[in-house]
Amino acid sequence: MNEILRKEVLAPRITEFEVYAPEIAAKAQPGHFVILRVHEKGERIPLTIADYDAVKGTITMVSQEVGKTTSQLATLEVGDSLADLVGPLGTPMHIEKVGCVVCVSGGLGVAPMYPKARRFYELGSKVVSFIGAQTKEMLIFKERMEKVSHHVGYSTDDGSFGHHGFVTDLLRKFLESGKEVDEVVAIGPLPMMRAAARVTRDFGVKTVVSLNPIMVDGTGMCGGCRVTVGGEVKFACVDGPAFDGHKVDFEELMARQNRFLEEERIAMERFRAQGEGCKCQER
Ligand code: FES
Repeated sequence: MNEILRKEVLAPRITEFEVYAPEIAAKAQPGHFVILRVHEKGERIPLTIADYDAVKGTITMVSQEVGKTTSQLATLEVGDSLADLVGPLGTPMHIEKVGCVVCVSGGLGVAPMYPKARRFYELGSKVVSFIGAQTKEMLIFKERMEKVSHHVGYSTDDGSFGHHGFVTDLLRKFLESGKEVDEVVAIGPLPMMRAAARVTRDFGVKTVVSLNPIMVDGTGMCGGCRVTVGGEVKFACVDGPAFDGHKVDFEELMARQNRFLEEERIAMERFRAQGEGCKCQER
């Protein structure tokens, strides 16, 4: 159980894992996530389910090396097993057929976006996708998103592929063109989702964002994933992770996300000092 059946490096420090987890795969829906530990003494990290196959009994996750645990995860190979894997967690995103949905993804956000775009597409909605990344080589899920979209636009921070600038520039341009849009889904870094929600507010378009705050238990017990939505306290792990983007208090959330940066930096330094190659260490 929890064995890695496939591992693929999609871009520098971004890795896709297909893991044998039949019970999770049987229940997974777009918007669900899992919490995993790389080894028995490791911290618990949430990862969105980017794909699932109930027949094969597998789920697919994409991880970017941003700290100690995600760096440890990247050292695992096919045949290794995760210490544990809990899920599916969260409330699946409500998806119904609409005339036109615009899916705006930034960075790693395109991985959790994929099953949602696919569901919209399968239901017969017109799907327009805008995908942003730092550089051309950091663009992931390109072919997959093109298969489930009627139109895809790209942006990169350095101009190496597509529009030179923000992915939300593409969203604004599309809305300014007067095309009818029923819903926007935005997934990516918090500043990107906040920018997307600001753009769509100007046009009065329903906007759903998928939050990925700090999580511990993933079941609504610890309060670590607390977010304020429409003035009410919500827990992203059970009430979300999808919320109305126009109601999320992004400033508060961004401040909370930065609270443990120093601890994370220290843990990462220790991990590097011990040698990144070891996949099971925990000190
Ligand atoms: S992760 Fe603990 S309440 Fe959500």
